[in-house]
Amino acid sequence: MNIHIFDSQEKLNQAGAGIIIGTVQTKQRAILGLATGSTPTGIYEEVVREYNRGLVSFRKTTTFNLDEYVGLPVGHPESYLVYMQQHLFNFIDIPAEQIHIPDGSLEDTLAECKRYDELLADAGQIDLQLLGIGHNGHIGFNEPDHALLRETHAVTLREETRQANAIYFDSMDEVPAQAITMGMGAILKAKTILLVVRGAEKAEIIHKALTGPITTAIPASLLQTHPSLVVLMDSEAGRLFQT
Ligand code: PGA
Repeated sequence: MNIHIFDSQEKLNQAGAGIIIGTVQTKQRAILGLATGSTPTGIYEEVVREYNRGLVSFRKTTTFNLDEYVGLPVGHPESYLVYMQQHLFNFIDIPAEQIHIPDGSLEDTLAECKRYDELLADAGQIDLQLLGIGHNGHIGFNEPDHALLRETHAVTLREETRQANAIYFDSMDEVPAQAITMGMGAILKAKTILLVVRGAEKAEIIHKALTGPITTAIPASLLQTHPSLVVLMDSEAGRLFQT
């Protein structure tokens, strides 16, 4: 595991964007696993900046997003599809048909999960999987539990997760109760995992996840088993690693 701690958000964003762009430049048809939330926004901004400088093209890149809320209509401003359009896809040259995000607006969630897994299986292996970590140690929406699932699945969000995401909605009632998430199988199968962590409130969970026992109670702890894990943290999140 390769841990980097940055004393500024700017340097962290540049490092994260550099790894994404490096993957796209070196692999002919790169497959990126992408994440949403507050953590990656600065990295996407930096990727767009570099794209605008003419340093990279995404014409041959394929993307798979980790997750999507269940029950939000297509085009809902808080859907992860809209997030990705607003932070990345609208500003780069990736063809629409190479973008994949689970569709949480469909009646048949089970069929959608199966369809997503088939797309992932056809793609083979994600070259670079970008991840954040939830306050409870979740990755994607693989929430702490007695067991974790390999496949893409629908999940009932934990109360703490809904509360953390309530800032994006007008009221708690509007926060979806369920989401579709890529399972642990596709995440752990990625060639390289880029885990990004920011903020003092994540310091304890990231320290436990990376140095404590491997347990399904902290899904991110399974990342300890990954042969190519890169962790980028700001100094607040990395506080317990700096002695
Ligand atoms: P955040 O979410 O980036 O908004 O903190 C991370 C996550 O829940 O995985």
